[in-house]
Amino acid sequence: MPTFTGEEATQYDSRITRLVPGYELLHQLTNAQLQATLSDNAHVLVVGAGTGKEILTLASQNPTWQFTAQDLSADMLAIAKQRFDEQGIKNRVTIHSGSVETLNTQADAVLCLLVMHFVQDNGDKKQLLKAIKATLKKDAHLYIADLMRAETSFEREAQLTTCAQLGLTAAGQTQMGHNLESEFYPLDRMRFSELLNECKFGIPKLYFKALGFSGYVV
Ligand SMILES: C[S@@+](CC[C@H](N)C(=O)[O-])C[C@H]1O[C@@H](n2cnc3c(N)ncnc32)[C@H](O)[C@@H]1O
Repeated sequence: MPTFTGEEATQYDSRITRLVPGYELLHQLTNAQLQATLSDNAHVLVVGAGTGKEILTLASQNPTWQFTAQDLSADMLAIAKQRFDEQGIKNRVTIHSGSVETLNTQADAVLCLLVMHFVQDNGDKKQLLKAIKATLKKDAHLYIADLMRAETSFEREAQLTTCAQLGLTAAGQTQMGHNLESEFYPLDRMRFSELLNECKFGIPKLYFKALGFSGYVV
C-alpha cells in the first residue's frame, strides 16, 4: 500500500483527482446524504481523513457541525491541520493520529472514503469495521467508498483511459495499472456485504459509482 508519507502526502491533493474519477462528486454526494440525515449539532468522524478533504467540504457547508479527523499518517494529518487553520475551522475539529480502536467517540455519522481498499481481508478489514461500528451512535450511518473487484474484464482499462483524460501522465498510468493489481485489496459485492453483516452493519446501499469505485451507506 502507499505509505502516505513524505512526497506521497505533499503531492496527494494534486494527484488524487487524476487517480479517482469522480473524486469531487463522491465528496459532494456524501455531503448531500449527510445534510439529508444529520441535525445542526452533528458530530462526524472521518476515518482516514488524509489531507482533510471531507472535513473542508463538510465544514464549509455545515457551519455548526463538529468533526474528528482520524488517520494513521501524521504527514497527511499535518497537511489537514494546516488547511483547517487556513479555513478557520480548527476549533471545530479534533485530530486523532492513531488507530480507530484508540478513539473514544460516539459519532452521528462516520465516513471512510478511499481507505478500506488498502486494508487486507485477512481479518484486518473486519477489525477496522468493528472498530468503526463501536464509534457510531445507535442507528447512525457509515459512508464507505472503495475500489471494488472489477466486474468486467475491461473495467480497469476503462478506468486508466479515464485517468489519462483527467491528466494522468503515461508514467502515472503505468504506475496506476501496477497499483490496481498489487496495492489494493478490493472486494466483490458479496464479500463486502458479508463482511459488513459480520460486523453488525445493515445492508449496504449504493450511492456513488464511477468505474471501479463504489460508495455505500450502511
Ligand atoms: C486515499 S487516502 C483518502 C483520504 C481522504 N479520505 C480522501 O478522500 O481524500 C487514504 C488515507 O487512508 C489512510 N489509512 C490507510 N489505512 C488506514 C487505517 N487502517 N486507518 C486509518 N487510516 C488509514 C491513509 O494514511 C490515507 O491518509
